[in-house]
Amino acid sequence: MKVLSVVGARPQFVKAFPVSRALRARGEEVLVHTGQHYDEELSDVFFTELGIPEPDYHLGVGSGSHATQTARVMERLDPVVVDEDPDALLVYGDTNSTVAAGLVGAKRDTAVVHVEAGLRSFDREMPEEVNRVVTDHVADLLLSPTEKGAENLAREGLADRTVVTGDVMYDALLWARDRVGDATTVLADNDLTPGEYVLATVHRAKNTDDPARLSAILDGLAGVSDPVVVPVHPRTETALREHDLWDRACDELRVIDPVGYLPFVRLLDGARRIATDSGGVQKEAFFLDTPCVTLREETEWVETVEAGWNELVGADADAITTALTRDWPLGEKPHPYGDGDAASVVAEAIDAYLQDGATPPTD
Ligand code: UD1
Ligand code: UDP
Repeated sequence: MKVLSVVGARPQFVKAFPVSRALRARGEEVLVHTGQHYDEELSDVFFTELGIPEPDYHLGVGSGSHATQTARVMERLDPVVVDEDPDALLVYGDTNSTVAAGLVGAKRDTAVVHVEAGLRSFDREMPEEVNRVVTDHVADLLLSPTEKGAENLAREGLADRTVVTGDVMYDALLWARDRVGDATTVLADNDLTPGEYVLATVHRAKNTDDPARLSAILDGLAGVSDPVVVPVHPRTETALREHDLWDRACDELRVIDPVGYLPFVRLLDGARRIATDSGGVQKEAFFLDTPCVTLREETEWVETVEAGWNELVGADADAITTALTRDWPLGEKPHPYGDGDAASVVAEAIDAYLQDGATPPTD
């Protein structure tokens, strides 16, 4: 089988790394980087650290409005799909690169495979929710990380295209967890003691584009007595500067540049608590047994909340400080994200689909 995989933003490099290995063990993979993320610390560092093969194509789309970014990916990916003529086009998650590539595949009548299908926040104002819904509806094979995702797809009439695979981010995390010990000095470099700091990340449009929300999040984090380390996304740095909050953030929090995956996993593992609006980080906190405070009103990763390891606090300063400070009565953890072999299940499901065009049962 020949699979053309499309990645472009930080979380997609992490998701693609285990899948890429599994695909290459079975057949040919052509890797396309859209260039949605281009800073060294949001892109190249992951290829080096995770040993992801050099992309065969780099589309260089860069930043822009949603329309510009989506249109550029479509325009530049289309001739690649025609030239390569893959058996399947594989997309990950919910970014503009995902939806654009999904549309190109659908219009070129190439089998579109969506890894991380079925996730829903049920908030159509969230740009990623539009990307998820559109991608799922144009895709031919929907690979859902969870049973909950499969239920969402069934409600939208897509059950017959769905396979539950487990979460490929769990595979990536297990790989990293075994290596972080020797691979990074991030704690010492930032003068952090395990169990005595909070790790925070913020980058969602809803939080960065609204100065009132951004300022309330700052207040909530600054209310914690432990050091709060914040690897800052470039979008958030720009917003903090624009809203005159940058100096305050640097005074009250430990603001650092984004770090690579292994140092980030070390930071997650050593933190007393996590505060985040990231999708991936909520789950990584769960995998590493670190309680998570989510700076949103809803989440796609509902299992983490139901299990009592994640609390949704939105952008309410008092609620953020309280959740980061309180004792958490943590019980048994369920395992809704698979056994850490999702990447091979993904590769197998694609192979099976291409061989007989049928999706295997989702048990
Ligand atoms: C994108 C995804 C989001 C994902 C996030 C992962 C969409 C709609 N959003 O959000 O789902 O959670 O990636 O991090 O696809 N910038 C840089 N350097 C870079 C990349 C971006 O400085 O390498 C700055 C630019 O000012 C840019 C802004 O960040 O305008 C936003 O980048 P963009 O890729 O549009 O969206 P993200 O917020 O990164
Ligand atoms: N991540 C990282 N360095 C950082 C922040 C995040 O390696 O400084 C990783 C994190 O471990 C996770 C992924 O990036 O695997 C999450 O990306 P992000 O939060 O940007 O996107 P989302 O998951 O919200 O789409």
